[in-house]
This record gives sequence, structure tokens and C-alpha cells, in this order.
Amino acid sequence: MKLLDYLNDYADQDIYPMHMPGHKRSFDFLDGISPYRIDLTEVTDSDNLHDPTGILKESMDMAASLFDSYRCWYLINGSTCGLLASIFALSRRGDKILVARNCHKAVYNAIHICGLYPIYLFPKVDKEFGVNGSIDPEQVRTAVEEYPDIKLAIITSPTYDGVVSDVASISHILHDRKIPLIVDEAHGPHLGFHPSFPKSAITEGADLVIQSIHKTLPSPTQTALLHMCSSLWKNREKLQDMDRQVSAALGIFESTSPSYIFMAAIDNCIHMLANKKESLFHEYIRRINRFSKETTCLKHIRIMCKGTDSLENHPLFYDFDPGKIVMSIKNLRLTSGEFEEIMLKKYKIELEMIAADYALALTSICDTDEGFDRLLQALIEIDAEYGCENAKPATPPRLRESVTKMSISAAKDMPDEQVRFADSAGRISREIVFAYPPGIPQIVPGEEITPTTIARVTALIENGITVQSTYGELPKYIHVVEV
Ligand SMILES: Cc1ncc(COP(=O)(O)O)c(C=O)c1O
Repeated sequence: MKLLDYLNDYADQDIYPMHMPGHKRSFDFLDGISPYRIDLTEVTDSDNLHDPTGILKESMDMAASLFDSYRCWYLINGSTCGLLASIFALSRRGDKILVARNCHKAVYNAIHICGLYPIYLFPKVDKEFGVNGSIDPEQVRTAVEEYPDIKLAIITSPTYDGVVSDVASISHILHDRKIPLIVDEAHGPHLGFHPSFPKSAITEGADLVIQSIHKTLPSPTQTALLHMCSSLWKNREKLQDMDRQVSAALGIFESTSPSYIFMAAIDNCIHMLANKKESLFHEYIRRINRFSKETTCLKHIRIMCKGTDSLENHPLFYDFDPGKIVMSIKNLRLTSGEFEEIMLKKYKIELEMIAADYALALTSICDTDEGFDRLLQALIEIDAEYGCENAKPATPPRLRESVTKMSISAAKDMPDEQVRFADSAGRISREIVFAYPPGIPQIVPGEEITPTTIARVTALIENGITVQSTYGELPKYIHVVEV
């Protein structure tokens, strides 16, 4: 079957997208225009993303002013290239870097490429929903006191599950020691547009912030933003230097043929927000609040920070993005596969992620009342029909402490040995192993594989979660450092 036929068939099925991208296939920026008609290269007045001085610069300046940053770069290779470029720009080979261990795999790839030594911060795990909590500022303080030679820090806020960290306190602690902070805000470009959402890291003291606008705003897959918003380096020279370093790094990690279709879409999204953000976010929050109120009738399905649950029940969360619908489905007599099938076949809803006891729906300003109602109706009926207390045992939490034996680049430079995964306890991994989504590594190169890690990864696979590895041979084999 041709891919285009598959995509058109899918689009014809009236399946409601409770997943990325944030435009929900409803925001038609092309407005009847053939994509080929506007697919230009750098011609006379079309400007150049890698050296913007004209129409692209104007557009990115407008985005910076909308988001309240000093400078905004449009990214057409996703937040992935923004993370690679930011870490490359702010580090020197051999630097120690403070890293929240629940960061996306792109961060570990950057650490590898740049030859850095990561010191990990492990967020605690929320008991009821099994998701990671916020990064505690006190963890950051302890780490920088123990390792005074840390040169850079990076955290993810909000997480894939919508958990937000106290970026203001974290950046204060780091800035007191002149350590810059990068925040991976891939899941939070919509924050800061309405008081009902947590504030964006851009205005909370971070130095560089990366946002996947394709995830939660109306813009196509692969489009993202990188903001320079340093509160550490306010003087002109320092900012100019950071600007130079980031621009140079993007020249390495981003395509030399940036798509004008993507850039026009970002520009369109920025104009739309500039013109209509108040009304769009007002309506969005109204829908979320109504949905939350109506889910109080659910007896078995629990929704994080909605319905009968609230932020106060989660002492490990500093704040939470109300746009995320995180569901605990452990009290349902349904496997993840059955739940997914009922959602899709009966209710025509495609969710973002489903595991044995967890499901995630992503919402955005492009969702409709009908979309929220469809999800609500499905949950009410499934709750009544399949609800049952303690229907299944809890799945293992997504992330626990790990033991680092050598840096990622040191492990990658060592000779390789392929071993059976089941027999790999005690060996040092040369592979990255991650559940996708959300791309947070269970095992990082240089970490010791323990019986607990093997049990956890095996349980994730058995629970229907897609687990990927560098060489794709799991669950049978893993590549380790040769002894
Ligand atoms: C936390 C986080 N950061 C970064 C990324 C990478 O973003 P992109 O897909 O825009 O490259 C993802 C993607 O899943 C993510 O979840």
C-alpha cells in the first residue's frame, strides 16, 4: 500500500486524535495551497534560516517577543536538534553536567557526542500513577555542593506526563554558582499563555529553553523553537557570545535545507497566537475544566489532578499541566491491548500512549467540545462496564536509580560484546535502552545492568510498552563492554 493512501484512508475514518501533533489535523495552514507551490529554497527575498536577516528574522523576532525571550530560533528538526545544539553550545569536552535522569534520549546523545560527564538527578516516583515527580531544588543544591565543578545543568519540565518542576528555585541555586540551566520544555510550548497553566521556564530563569511546538500547538511534526532567555548572563557581550555559540551549533545539527513549508507553518502558528491567544486559551481552559468536573463520576478510572484527584494529592509534583489527561486504568478488567481496541474501534479515539495500568491523552487549543465529550463518554461507559478494584498488579515504575560505571563516551569507545539480555546482570551497557514514547532511557551506555533493570525492562515489554535499544536486539540480546 502506498503511504499516502494509508494516510488518506486513516484521515477518512473520523478517528479523534488525543495525541500529537497539537494541530489535531484540523488547523489547515496550507488553506488549499499545494505544498509544492510554497516549497522554496533560499531565493532572493526568502532569507536564510542559518543566517537570518530578512523575513525569517522578522518572524523569529516576533516569536521572541510573544514568548518573552531575547532570541528565538525556528527549528525544523524538532526539539532533538535544539537539545543537541544547546548542550554542544554551552559545554566543553570533559565538562561535568548535571542531568535529570528522566531526560529524553537526545540529551544522552549530546552527552556522548560532546564527551561530557553526567551527574544524574533522579526524580522520585508518584505512588499512585507511577510517574516521575518534579526535580526537587534541594536535590540540585546537594549535587552542586558535592560537585562544585559542574558546568551546566539540564532538566525536563514539563515531563511527558505533564509534571512541572520549580524552575525559578532551581535556576537561582545554579545561577548563584554561575551554572547555566537548559530546560527541555518540549511538552510545554503552550505554558505561559493563560494563568491556569504553570509558567514557562522562559520567564522562570532558565538560560536556554527548547519547545516542540508540534507537540502541543498547531504546527506540523518536526517544528520546534529554541529560546535564549538567560537570566544568568544579562550583559550584552555574554548574550552575544551565547547567541554566536547556539547559532554555530545549529549550523552543525540542523539541516542545511530547512523546509519553507515547516517555517511558514511555524510563522502561521506564531501569528495566530499573537492575534488570538486570549480567546483560544480561554476556550481551551473552559473545555479542560468542564472535562475535569464531569470525570468526578468515575469510580475506577482515576485521572491525575482532575475529577476527584488534585495537585494536593501529589506531594512530589511542584505543578502540573492541566492539558495532559493521565489516566490510571489499573482498576479495569482490561489489558492495555483490549483498552486500546475498545477506544479505537468502539469510540474512534486514538490515545497518545497506553500501558497496562496507564493511559495518556494529549489535548491542545485545537481540540473541540465534541472531542472532549467523546473521550468523556468512552471513559464513563468503560468505567461502568469493566471497573473492578485491584484488577491488576501495578507495573514497575518507569525509572529507578541506576549505577554509572563510566561515561557514555568511554563505554562507546570500549570493545563490544553481545550477550543474552537475561544473563547481562553485572555487565556495563554499551547500548541505550528506552521506552518509546516517551524516550527516557531505562539503561544508558556506561551504566551497570542490574537484576532490577532486567526485571523492569522485561516487565515493560510484557506490559505492551515499546522498548527500543541501540541495536534493536532486545529482549534477546544486549551489547555490553567487553571484559
Ligand atoms: C521530553 C522530550 N524532549 C525532547 C523530545 C524530542 O522532541 P522532537 O520530537 O521535537 O525532536 C521529546 C520527544 O518525544 C520529548 O518527549
